[in-house]
Amino acid sequence: MQIFLDTASVAEIREAVSWGVVSGVTTNPTLVSKEGRPFLSVVEEICQIVKGPVSAEAVSEDADGMVREARELSRVAPNVVVKIPITPEGLKAVSRVSREGIRTNVTLIFSPLQALLAARAGAAFVSPFVGRLDDIGHVGMDVVRDTVDIFEIHGIETQVIAASIRHPVHVLEAAKAGAHIATVPFGVLKAMVQHPLTDRGIERFLADWAKVPGASRPGQ
Ligand code: E4P
Repeated sequence: MQIFLDTASVAEIREAVSWGVVSGVTTNPTLVSKEGRPFLSVVEEICQIVKGPVSAEAVSEDADGMVREARELSRVAPNVVVKIPITPEGLKAVSRVSREGIRTNVTLIFSPLQALLAARAGAAFVSPFVGRLDDIGHVGMDVVRDTVDIFEIHGIETQVIAASIRHPVHVLEAAKAGAHIATVPFGVLKAMVQHPLTDRGIERFLADWAKVPGASRPGQ
């Protein structure tokens, strides 16, 4: 399973990319609104930092508008993926732009059948929203698991992005469910790398190293 970063913050993206674990980025209008900068310049800067897919969302509600936005976004950089919501107009737009070679990530997916339709329309990625389903008492990860199974049974190449990830256990469950990608907020990524036993282990090793006669640390 690949890890994408779910943020529009260039600072977070630069840091996470330097860890060598980030294969792509997803944004949405809410995340972009936190940056206080024009949308296209944010997308352009992210695409310069990340070589993998960078999802940027269209906000039109009609297919013609979504197609126009998709064309404009795809001119920003070759790795832009256009996020389009799963509506009838969204499906029309996905099928039109995918024939032009523009990759799409169909978003706001809450059922495997929505994911199947998106894939049949030509989506490169589908994004089931795990956390938002959990929030209303459903088991969000079931949608990821069922979608992965359906795509496998029917030889569908569309990739499943587990989205709306709220904590590390979501990432663990997404990996076990066979998601191709989990898109994680930077806070979750930081939580994934931490473990109190790792911290304690480093402390103990350093304390013991200081007892080694003549021991020094690189750069000291
Ligand atoms: C990413 O593709 C989604 O837009 C994002 O994960 C949604 O997360 P949220 O439900 O925490 O807003």
